[in-house]
Amino acid sequence: MKLNLAILAGDGIGPEVTREAIGILKAVAEFGSHDFRFTEALIGGIAILAEGTPLPQATIEIALAADAVFLGAVGDDKFNALSPDKRPEAGLLRIRQELGGFANLRPCLAFAPLADNSPLKPEGIKDVDILFVRELLGGLYFGQPRSWDKKTGEAVNTMRYSKTEVERVARIAFELAGKRKGKLTQVDKANVLECSQLWRATVDELAPQYPGVTVEHQLVDSMAIHLMNRPRDFDVVLTENLFGDILSDESGVISGSLGMLPSATLGGKVNLYEPVHGSAPDIAGQGKANPLGAILTAAMVLRHSAGLEAEAQAVEAAVASVLDAVHRTGDIARGSRSAIVSTEQMGKLVHEALAQALDRQHAMHAV
Ligand code: IPM
Ligand code: MN
Repeated sequence: MKLNLAILAGDGIGPEVTREAIGILKAVAEFGSHDFRFTEALIGGIAILAEGTPLPQATIEIALAADAVFLGAVGDDKFNALSPDKRPEAGLLRIRQELGGFANLRPCLAFAPLADNSPLKPEGIKDVDILFVRELLGGLYFGQPRSWDKKTGEAVNTMRYSKTEVERVARIAFELAGKRKGKLTQVDKANVLECSQLWRATVDELAPQYPGVTVEHQLVDSMAIHLMNRPRDFDVVLTENLFGDILSDESGVISGSLGMLPSATLGGKVNLYEPVHGSAPDIAGQGKANPLGAILTAAMVLRHSAGLEAEAQAVEAAVASVLDAVHRTGDIARGSRSAIVSTEQMGKLVHEALAQALDRQHAMHAV
């Protein structure tokens, strides 16, 4: 198997967690004699400093020529005074547009050994397995017109969706729900927004084509509370761009830390993989970042871009087995019961567990 990956490590803890994720991909490649190649390119604040733009043309070209793009994180407090179109985040939004992926898959698992890290009751989150499908190319993030007129003191953003945009992401959510527990929860604000009414109508119109999937609609405000009160009731959660951004961060409470959450964006020219967490400037460069979200994102690369499902599962099993022990990065530590390890040490522990998981799989296949 041959795979060309563009690596856009970005800002803050991005490079630290990306390094560990790449280490895992390299281990998989070595074990299975796969040819994985990695080409680095600049994005975000680091690109502004080097090239004067958060997304240099060279990065776009490298990304479009790749089989998959892995992105660490973007964002740097240095640029807080800039307008949204000049900030590091603009580079991320523009690369998402260039690559064209509209279905952002954000799984949220309740890892049993991290149950204590959640403020929620362990029995309430036991075995939670939610897949958020966040529309990634529409809504308020990209709608025109947008402006901030400092003279009149008026700012405008536009929520805009076409039926085609809703339908294409909804189909992916239906298909995924059909392969999982068969429940699709569509989240909107249909009591106030026409865009949300379009989402509801479009999902309802598609539903008869997926008889194995049960559809429910939730308003985003009540969904925010249901997600904390009864997360076990949800399977696939489909929603528009901004609601998906907010709800997926909220789901970090269930997983024990935002640092545990991976994501994959499908449906465009090139798939884009990014952990859900941000650049965390407060802990950047200190070896404190949790690389597990990035490593689980690497598992999604194996699953969705390399077609290596068994290897993806081996990486996920390796993460689970590391969590069974006492080693923790700070964000998932449990007082004196944890041995605090660095980003790099955590990567190494997963690497060791992965070697064992792959050996086990190999032995099973040899029988
Ligand atoms: C995310 C991030 C981005 C988003 C930011 C950095 C632009 O929060 O990937 O969730 O809002 O999509
Ligand atoms: Mn976010």
